[in-house]
Amino acid sequence: MSDHNYVPSSKLGKWFNDRLPLLSLSAHLREYPTPKNLNYWWTFGGILTFCLVAQIITGIVLAMHYVAHTDLAFASVEHIMRDVNYGWLLRYFHANGASMFFLAVYIHIFRALYYGSYKSPREVIWIIGMIIYFLMMMTAFMGYVLPWGQMSFWAATVITNLFSAVPFVGESITNWLWGGFAVDNPTLTRFYALHYLLPFLIFGLVILHIWALHVPGNNNPIGIELKKPSKDTVPFHPYIVIKDLFALLLFLIVFAFFVFYAPNILGHADNYIEANPMVTPNHIVPEWYLLPFYAILRSVPDKLFGVIAMFASIFVLVILPWLDTSKVKSAIFRPIYKQFYWILVIDVLVLGYMGAMPAEGTYLLIARAATIYYFVHFLIILPILGKKEKTLPVPLSITDPVLGGSPNPNVVKKKEIYN
Ligand code: HEM
Repeated sequence: MSDHNYVPSSKLGKWFNDRLPLLSLSAHLREYPTPKNLNYWWTFGGILTFCLVAQIITGIVLAMHYVAHTDLAFASVEHIMRDVNYGWLLRYFHANGASMFFLAVYIHIFRALYYGSYKSPREVIWIIGMIIYFLMMMTAFMGYVLPWGQMSFWAATVITNLFSAVPFVGESITNWLWGGFAVDNPTLTRFYALHYLLPFLIFGLVILHIWALHVPGNNNPIGIELKKPSKDTVPFHPYIVIKDLFALLLFLIVFAFFVFYAPNILGHADNYIEANPMVTPNHIVPEWYLLPFYAILRSVPDKLFGVIAMFASIFVLVILPWLDTSKVKSAIFRPIYKQFYWILVIDVLVLGYMGAMPAEGTYLLIARAATIYYFVHFLIILPILGKKEKTLPVPLSITDPVLGGSPNPNVVKKKEIYN
């Protein structure tokens, strides 16, 4: 982080700042030198921060009316929808907010994959991001259980049952998670407690994530390390602030479309039926954002290995900075990596689709092939490609290709650097 010699103008400000340098911090955030070629994919960090805060605020107000008891949970959600002032808005904002949060986080992650933002010196930013992502999935899963609909109950049953695959202690772990011998009231209350707690843990991790970001500064579309501040950077305020706010506005339009025009399109109709342990739904599916992992889980014939494959699919992302051996960060200068990147995007979309389909016949075969390819991409293609690929010449600075002086400014289309 750049050292800050900020001196507040007022006496009181100086007195306070000498004791707790909050004013220096705010000056640092305003002046933070940001690469001048950041494109709109870089606005998703700010959008994610908005999503987190919005989920916490709407969640706290929902908690004022929700009752975490198996006899009352479903009815209390209906009460929120019908009787509480603007309760429908709060609930639809929170439920669709979870989907929007994941949409934004997937864009944020795939941005990092394209531009190599996970590479040195940003490994810690990336790993903290993966922990946040994991906690987001836990939070969303537990939140989905709270309305105590059919899908809530059966999703909780399927997922907690996975732990029973652990040799010897599996059953004890599952009973411990349930707080009994089936998914029941103790399960609901502990999920509620954790669903309330985890977002605050995520909030703390986001602060570390941004702190770690401010040490090396942002990566950028051409993936070179910059001198900061320099002719290649602009101050965060007002340049990035205004751009982030504009992007947030566009994002809110999409968000509003779901909340006001299609509030249930991303949910499952069965969750409007109260949980019934005696009736299993025909087809148990998680929310869309968990589908690729669900597909990986089901594509392995053995339960234990399915669980291992599912966790491994996240773990390969954690160690990605060491699997990708290429010195060049941005896909702009990696013609072959760029192709594999898009194949991976398609692979993950295919996995998501297969996660929503029954695990049988052709669907299962495709899910298996897509699972294998997922691991091949990270464990085989990336390490080899990093060593073998012939990369394009990388400019020495952001401004050089425009002002001249780069090794070969014509190699990269200007549009790609400056869009
Ligand atoms: C609550 C969720 C998250 C929030 C609020 C958040 C916030 C941010 C912000 C504000 C930035 C700087 C602006 C930007 O690059 O977009 C950033 C950068 C970054 N984030 Fe996240 N993030 C979250 C989750 C994640 C996840 C899940 C990952 C990946 C596993 C991740 C990986 C990164 C990386 C690698 C950067 C550095 C990008 C660069 O240097 O330009 N983040 N994040």
